Amino acid sequence: MRVLISGGAGYIGSHTVVQVVAAGHDVVVVDDFSNAKPTVINRLEALTGTHIPVHAFDLTDRDKTERLFADERFDAVIHFAGLKAVGESVDKPLEYYENNLGSTFSLVRAMRRHGVGKLVFSSSATVYGDHAPVPYREDYEPLAAASPYGRTKVMIEHVLSDVAAADPGLKVALLRYFNPIGAHPSGTIGEDPQGIPNNLVPFIAQVAVGRREKLNVFGDDYPTADGTCERDYIHVEDLAAGHLAALTALEAAPAPVNVWNLGTGTGTSVLEMLHAFERAAGKEIPYEVVGRRAGDLPAYWADPTKAHEELGWRATRTVDDMCADTWRWQQGNPNGYPDA
Ligand code: UFG
Repeated sequence: MRVLISGGAGYIGSHTVVQVVAAGHDVVVVDDFSNAKPTVINRLEALTGTHIPVHAFDLTDRDKTERLFADERFDAVIHFAGLKAVGESVDKPLEYYENNLGSTFSLVRAMRRHGVGKLVFSSSATVYGDHAPVPYREDYEPLAAASPYGRTKVMIEHVLSDVAAADPGLKVALLRYFNPIGAHPSGTIGEDPQGIPNNLVPFIAQVAVGRREKLNVFGDDYPTADGTCERDYIHVEDLAAGHLAALTALEAAPAPVNVWNLGTGTGTSVLEMLHAFERAAGKEIPYEVVGRRAGDLPAYWADPTKAHEELGWRATRTVDDMCADTWRWQQGNPNGYPDA
């Protein structure tokens, strides 16, 4: 297949590019580089041993999107591109709605006009909201999310479901990610957050490498075993493999819309993660317990049964693997990707 990967220079997108190329497909990347460095592409070309064509523009630009589809033939699209910081989305809701919804509209319009029939979309466990029973199952309704970011994911799931229901030529996979961490085992690609990391593991990694003084643990008075929040951390390599499995399965999938959780089915607490990272890095990581962060849920994880049964996919890497690979990437690239 010839696969367009939007956001292919980003964290999950870049790891997926490597696996889609390794599976024998041709990959074209579209990315506006608003939250990724162009040097990622050099690393991807070194890892895959192929030239990766890149189109650098914002997908909300309908004319440019239409031109890309007019110029190139694609069999499928994996759509990662989007704004993704929960806190920022509260301060800049309009940007989130315009960007995440607008890029999807523009992309799907071009896909339909040019007869591209397979779409894999990056959704999130955040669509289960505050009330879903744990573990989260794909058939839970109604979807709700606590932030503008999360609501863009809910809205896009509805939009894509409606469009696919009306168009027999389109099949959609909605992949609900839990907490992706880790890096490619080569240590040459990984997560490169700009500014202060919002997420736990990138923050721990920066403390371990000496870029930050200590981890702030947001609350230890939750109703969990050690009082800190529990999440379902999934290795980004397993997550990338889930995209490949979904892409392959879409061809034969009976339903126009297919929802799959991509998680491990196990919760890990903040302190357990900190200690796992200490083992990987072979050093103590300073931390301080501070107040709760607004909006955090105490504990949730995936029921990954559906993806296993329907895709033959399951996450295989452990939390220790995730920490070892994150640490290799962080040590080799203490300041992330180079500017040039
Ligand atoms: N945490 C800390 N200190 C930090 C950062 C995080 O203690 O410096 C804690 C959080 O309080 C939380 C846990 O570590 O308990 C995990 O936090 P992350 O920010 O890494 O991940 P979240 O589960 O909050 O966020 C994820 C995704 C979002 C998604 C959200 C809701 O990153 O995209 O889940 O489903 F919207």
